[in-house]
Amino acid sequence: MSEQTSSKVDFSKYFQPPSLKDARRRRRQAVQIINDFSIPEDMAAIGRGKQYLIETYGCQMNEHDTEVMAGILEKMGYHETDDPKLADVILINTCAIRENAENKVFGHIGTLKTLKLEKPGLILGVCGCMAQEEVVVNKILAKHPQVDLIFGTHNIHRLPQLLKEALFSKEMVVEVWSKEGDIVENLPQSRRGHFQAWVNIMYGCDKFCTYCIVPYTRGKERSRHPQEIIQEVRELARQGYKEITLLGQNVNAYGKDLPDLQNYGLGNLMDEIRRIGIPRVRFTTSHPKDFDDHLIEVLAKGGNLCEHIHLPVQSGSSDVLKIMGRGYTRERYLELFHKIKDAVPNASFTTDIIVGFPNETDEQFEETLSLVRECEFDGGFTFIYSPRAGTPAARMKDNVPMEVKKVRLQRLNKLMDEFSAKSNAKYQDQTVEVLVEGESRKNPEVLSGHTRTNKVVNFRGPKSLIGELVNVKITNAKMWSLNGEWQEETQGVR
Ligand code: 5AD
Ligand code: SF4
Repeated sequence: MSEQTSSKVDFSKYFQPPSLKDARRRRRQAVQIINDFSIPEDMAAIGRGKQYLIETYGCQMNEHDTEVMAGILEKMGYHETDDPKLADVILINTCAIRENAENKVFGHIGTLKTLKLEKPGLILGVCGCMAQEEVVVNKILAKHPQVDLIFGTHNIHRLPQLLKEALFSKEMVVEVWSKEGDIVENLPQSRRGHFQAWVNIMYGCDKFCTYCIVPYTRGKERSRHPQEIIQEVRELARQGYKEITLLGQNVNAYGKDLPDLQNYGLGNLMDEIRRIGIPRVRFTTSHPKDFDDHLIEVLAKGGNLCEHIHLPVQSGSSDVLKIMGRGYTRERYLELFHKIKDAVPNASFTTDIIVGFPNETDEQFEETLSLVRECEFDGGFTFIYSPRAGTPAARMKDNVPMEVKKVRLQRLNKLMDEFSAKSNAKYQDQTVEVLVEGESRKNPEVLSGHTRTNKVVNFRGPKSLIGELVNVKITNAKMWSLNGEWQEETQGVR
């Protein structure tokens, strides 16, 4: 770091903190497609002989953003390491969805202080959803001077320029745009998997559920053009990928914002992707309000479209759903659920549920339990409500005592586990197709993968099966996973 270089830096240019208030705005302006990603000449080889590490918290969208940032860093010559002590650049890709996710990140930033003292040349960056929040940026500015760089979810393509400033400036570089967002195409990406891949189909969310920070941290709904998506999926198929997951915060709103396509939605896109020679196609996350009949018709065609639907319900009480701003009632959710189940009889269903939302009564919580009993979900994610500053629910009185919230969560989890065990039991003695993903985390002697319905299957077999679709006969159906035997000779049964 030289005095000369730092004195040339117009620091004000690199201090753009976030504003949740601006992030809330939704204008009519058309989304810009940016296609001019570039690496400044003097940064093209800056990473030669150097290493990077990206720590990722949160959802699949973040995991995929990490692949893009890794791709950009690798274009600059950096190599990946998993040892923080060897890293020259450490980026922490953060999640803001609940308070405990944020606390974990702050704890981690704290532990990196010692490393930074030992290695002053290390660049420490914070990005992702937390970077979009004023409170977080202010806290980092005040308490964590070891951080060199903060950038937002809309600024990922600017990583080369921002890294340059961080390397040569003595100040903390902060660039967080709170605009609604554009679409940046053709960014490099270094995919983590060789047979499973994520494909963004849209960004952002306009649903503004009253508890949720995502519409503020990820901007407005912007759909990628189908041509771009289909081209990406074709290329993945050509490279031998076995499974893709189409990603978006609210994938059922796909296409609504595309100016040149009338009535083109997720059903149309999936119908086109169905014809591409890739064995498995998944999609997440669905919003019940926008889940339309055309998509159901297309899913019913099967083929490479996997029969697993993640359909977050959040609550079984219409009154709570109303205050959550979900845009559907309990009855409407159940109607949709049964419609999909009738059309795709083998489908597995998972969900997300929040307990202890402001004012949630015992009776309303019982309604959630009764909905779970009716749907018999295969699995799901359950959460205690966590107020997020800036959202409408955070202004409501968080009046359900923590003890009550914990008891509700325990009761809900117990019920969800019962249905998980019940749905797994149906697999006993069945032969299922499994995409072999690797060694089981608990026992390297055992291989592990998922069925089309997203059930975890563990079985013994040669390591050469990793990355292959194989048939496994289920011999022991457990609560959260299935054990089985590899069927070398059989044809797949779903
Ligand atoms: N508190 C608790 N859970 C939340 N989720 C989103 N926001 C909150 C919050 N403030 C949950 C929802 C969503 C999942 C990704 O996270 O269930 O579907
Ligand atoms: Fe959050 Fe609701 Fe959008 Fe999902 S649909 S990301 S819960 S605002």
